[in-house]
Amino acid sequence: MFRKLHESGAPALTLTIDGQSVAAEPGETVAAVLLRQQTPATRTTPVHESPRAPYCMMGVCFDCLAIVDGVASTQTCLVTVRDGMRVERQFGRRSVLP
Ligand code: FES
Repeated sequence: MFRKLHESGAPALTLTIDGQSVAAEPGETVAAVLLRQQTPATRTTPVHESPRAPYCMMGVCFDCLAIVDGVASTQTCLVTVRDGMRVERQFGRRSVLP
């Protein structure tokens, strides 16, 4: 659905999304990378398990929550990519206990 308007030419970083290697550009947010994927959903809602994808891209809507490097409910629109980063989509209810 989404694609980059240009290629910066900067060396690509590699992160994994649900175990799949994905190329990204330094300075991009994790949410921007997720929106370029075949399935842009980052999570499902806790009650009805409806898919949600990044929407506001500025930390307001919380539709971009995902597990980033083992930290659940991370707002991916506020996190820039790092080489080797692990991103996993969140499904259903989360526990508040560790
Ligand atoms: S996209 Fe809305 S909080 Fe991240």
